[in-house]
Amino acid sequence: MNTTKVTVVGAGSVGATCAQICAQRELANEVVLLDIKEGVAEGKALDLWQTAPINHYDSRTVGVTNDYARTANSDVVVITSGLPRKPGMSRDDLISVNAGIVKSVTESVVKHSPNAIIIVVSNPLDVMTYCTYLAAKVKSNKVMGMAGILDTARYRAFLAEALGCNPKDIQALLMGGHGDSMVPLPRYTTVSGIPVTQLIAKDKLDAIIERTKNGGGELVKLMGTSAWYAPGSAAAQMVEAIMRDQRRIFPCCVKLNGEYGVKDVFVGAPVKLGKDGIEQIIEVELNAEERKDFDNSVKAVKDVMDVMDGMKLF
Ligand code: 2OP
Repeated sequence: MNTTKVTVVGAGSVGATCAQICAQRELANEVVLLDIKEGVAEGKALDLWQTAPINHYDSRTVGVTNDYARTANSDVVVITSGLPRKPGMSRDDLISVNAGIVKSVTESVVKHSPNAIIIVVSNPLDVMTYCTYLAAKVKSNKVMGMAGILDTARYRAFLAEALGCNPKDIQALLMGGHGDSMVPLPRYTTVSGIPVTQLIAKDKLDAIIERTKNGGGELVKLMGTSAWYAPGSAAAQMVEAIMRDQRRIFPCCVKLNGEYGVKDVFVGAPVKLGKDGIEQIIEVELNAEERKDFDNSVKAVKDVMDVMDGMKLF
């Protein structure tokens, strides 16, 4: 019998939330949670396992302290390791610490699970996805970053509230990096097929777009640390699309290989996600203004990729 395994590296709030949803949805026989802090992953995995009889699932959660051998042959690995933001910090401020962490985590992951598909959640997201790609030395369809699902979820939640409608009915696309330069696309936003621009005044929509761009920062300000429910849920939705070969279309951080006229930059774009990871990068038509915003975002990400290159980790 082939057992399936999902590993979540980092048992902080994002990792634990992601592991909980993966287990509850029975996305794998085993969900391994790994952390460097002695006992934390073991404790959270045990606590989660004790919810199985209550929440009616049978994925086994297992916690380990830095024991990558226990993650061997994972189908999907989610990397959440690294420091979160504190108030006043940008995601890019985390690069000097998180790049080293993400590099060494990735090397350990790949040593034991050479075929795994890797989803990166650590910040600065787009550049940590690049870092993982360099450290993993695997094809670019197997390494991706979680940001677009989170950012569109914020945008959709704000829209549902403003329109007094159901968040399930809102479909939206957002591209670019996971930072202030992200590009929500109202032209590709609908409510049950109705273009959102027919339902909301421009000034209100513009305010929602601004709030979306600062959505992570709004939560850091409120809580003194960064968010976890929506980031963990978004990562689990990517795990589900891969483990169940759902071929869902989401915005994810991917290596562009000439799509949108961009090469070798990791940035958010719509992709099809299935058992092989990124099965297609979808090129949507952008008008001049959208194109300009996307190009600015690509440049912002590229600048931070250059900072990481300057660190000479590879
Ligand atoms: C956020 O936007 C953690 O970057 C993540 O909340």
